[in-house]
Amino acid sequence: MLVTGKQILDHAHENNYAVGAFNVNNMEQVQAIIEAAEETGSPVIMQASQGALKYAGVEYVSALVKTAAEKASVPVALHLDHGTDFKQIVLCIRNGFTSVMIDASKMPLEGNIETTKKITDIAHAAGVSVEAEIGKIGGTEDDITVDERDATFTDPDEAEKLVNETGLDSLAIAVGTAHGPYKGEPKLDFERITTIKERLNMPLVLHGSSGVPEESIKKAVERGINKINIDTDIRMAFNKAIRDFLDNNPDAYDPRKIVGPAREAMKEIIKGKMTMFGSTGKAWK
Ligand code: G3H
Ligand code: 13P
Ligand code: ZN
Repeated sequence: MLVTGKQILDHAHENNYAVGAFNVNNMEQVQAIIEAAEETGSPVIMQASQGALKYAGVEYVSALVKTAAEKASVPVALHLDHGTDFKQIVLCIRNGFTSVMIDASKMPLEGNIETTKKITDIAHAAGVSVEAEIGKIGGTEDDITVDERDATFTDPDEAEKLVNETGLDSLAIAVGTAHGPYKGEPKLDFERITTIKERLNMPLVLHGSSGVPEESIKKAVERGINKINIDTDIRMAFNKAIRDFLDNNPDAYDPRKIVGPAREAMKEIIKGKMTMFGSTGKAWK
């Protein structure tokens, strides 16, 4: 069943667990995610980045996820990941997305508030949930010093102001994770998660969660993270399965034979994440 992002994340917030938000670009990823969710009894969020929408088209992404959700017994939300463009956000809303992210985190606080408020007003009028971001979640390729790293983390005062002045539904915070593969081990600022959770008492989102050790993920969830974004680990599983299959079957040419094992490999990774996040068995009817 298709539900809003807010329904999923409020439940996670009230029951102290996190829901996986997995990036999708094609049918096999959607199927891997929905099967993992069904087999573990997990609520789930499927999200498309602007790159995914450019690759697959908003109508295809929407139809794939809605088809999966309608057939599934678990709650599913369809979310726009890192939206930055007003028109594209409206297009997603018109195509049945039940949640959108407005990422105005590159702007100074006042600009972030103004942009997030504009999106929140329009999305809420359409019954669609809103995630916003404050602080800077880098790429792992960004070469920054420890001092610079701290300066990019979410300021709890600014986070509170953004929430109070916009009415957003969930907040992505910068606490030491980064998008893409990590070179070393990411060091999360757990105290900062606790402080922000106590101040805001609302669903919090962790981006760049691929490659974060299980222990850190569990600690982050205990301290109040309710949505965990995973893309790179699924890409890696897909990539490895395809390469392994072709190495072992150099004459293969049927796309179903080549991509089928990758769908299974992605599903296994996703089930592991769902267990780690504590969403297993949390699906409601
Ligand atoms: O946060 C970024 C996601 O991993 C999406 O990446 O823009 O390459 O689709 P993408
Ligand atoms: P990873 O690719 O590092 O898992 O990050 C995903 C993400 O944050 C999508 O918004
Ligand atoms: Zn992200």
